[in-house]
Amino acid sequence: MIRMEPRRGSLCARRRETRSAILTEHTPLCIAAEDGLLAVGEPAEPVTLADGMRLALIGYGNVGRAFARLLEAKRSQYPFRIVAIHTLRHGSAYALRGLPLEPEFGPPAASIDEFLDRSQAEVAIELTSLNPSTGEPATTHIRAAFARGMHVITANKGPIAHSYAALREEAARAGVAFRFESTCMDGAPVFNMVRDHLPGIVIHGFTGVLNSTTKVILEAMRRGLTMEEGIREAQRMGIAETDASYDIDGWDAAAKTAALANVLLDARVTPLDVDRRGIGRLTPERVQELARKRKAVVLVSRARRTKTGVKLRVRAEVLDETDILASLKGTSNLLLLHTDLMGTVGTVSMEPRVEQTAYGVFADLIDIARTV
Ligand SMILES: NC(=O)c1ccc[n+]([C@@H]2O[C@H](COP(=O)([O-])OP(=O)(O)OC[C@H]3O[C@@H](n4cnc5c(N)ncnc54)[C@H](OP(=O)(O)O)[C@@H]3O)[C@@H](O)[C@H]2O)c1
Repeated sequence: MIRMEPRRGSLCARRRETRSAILTEHTPLCIAAEDGLLAVGEPAEPVTLADGMRLALIGYGNVGRAFARLLEAKRSQYPFRIVAIHTLRHGSAYALRGLPLEPEFGPPAASIDEFLDRSQAEVAIELTSLNPSTGEPATTHIRAAFARGMHVITANKGPIAHSYAALREEAARAGVAFRFESTCMDGAPVFNMVRDHLPGIVIHGFTGVLNSTTKVILEAMRRGLTMEEGIREAQRMGIAETDASYDIDGWDAAAKTAALANVLLDARVTPLDVDRRGIGRLTPERVQELARKRKAVVLVSRARRTKTGVKLRVRAEVLDETDILASLKGTSNLLLLHTDLMGTVGTVSMEPRVEQTAYGVFADLIDIARTV
């Protein structure tokens, strides 16, 4: 384990004056040029790392627990510590030396401010349930963390779908990092890929199959099961939203579409701006009838720039079984970016589970540890 000495004049150096960083011998060091452009290089001078960054988790459900398990598995290389957890009904837990996977919860903190103050964390990780119509209370949680100089990671697409531009500016003003890789593709690289690997690109639009739950439900209906049985299957897999009607009615896909548009197209929209129709009216009989014609129903997100703004749409589309959008099975999801310099380029995740969402959070965390 090594601690890196900051290089004068680099972003890494400026940020590290106040924050600890986690790097392993094999971790490349982020080196920032004077113009602010990030480059990845080899570590400069090895120094011993003390004890890693302190993390406060807001929400400890499927994703939070999967993330805690992942950290446990990677502890020897990446000694991050979960020092506080806050939930809605289970209460709050604190331990500066690090909480176990199954912590003993005490009474809930009276407010998010009280929780964050008591946590003494450096990074707040927002993993509460989605509210697609407001993005709250997650947005308030994130702002409370910024106000305390904490970096923030979230898997909750609500804040990105509703308030991304404002949150990005607030994070910049507070001098903290704000990351959200898991919000749209369960941990497969999207935002980090565009930022780090598609420099100078202009994204004209995108097409995506972004909601795993409706895929699982539609495939169950194709096998002759009811929609309710399909929902239960998705819930058993831990991928359905806390309120599964958000998946069925296309709200989750609309929130992801708005989030992607806000980040990739600077659209400044909310899920309400997405022309949305879910899968609620489909019957197993109709899905099976289409299957006999080698057709599949898929909930597809589409975005494109127009002269007057950005057009966003979520629809259950009838596609040929061989269409790339229809050919991925199970929870698999896909995003195609339509760009000026790279044509259409994309990212795909084969059968992601909640562990992959947790990985997206972990990847964000390592990125923050490397760059601050
Ligand atoms: N599951 C996935 O595969 C997946 C994939 C990508 C993104 N996401 C996103 O990740 C987030 C978490 O998903 P999940 O599946 O882990 O949800 P979940 O299992 O329903 O857990 C939600 C957690 O948030 C807590 N919570 C809810 N409201 C809260 C509040 N006001 N204050 C404090 N804690 C609160 C709940 O507390 P209690 O435990 O006390 O109820 C619970 O611990 C969601 O925004 C979801 O959209 C999930």
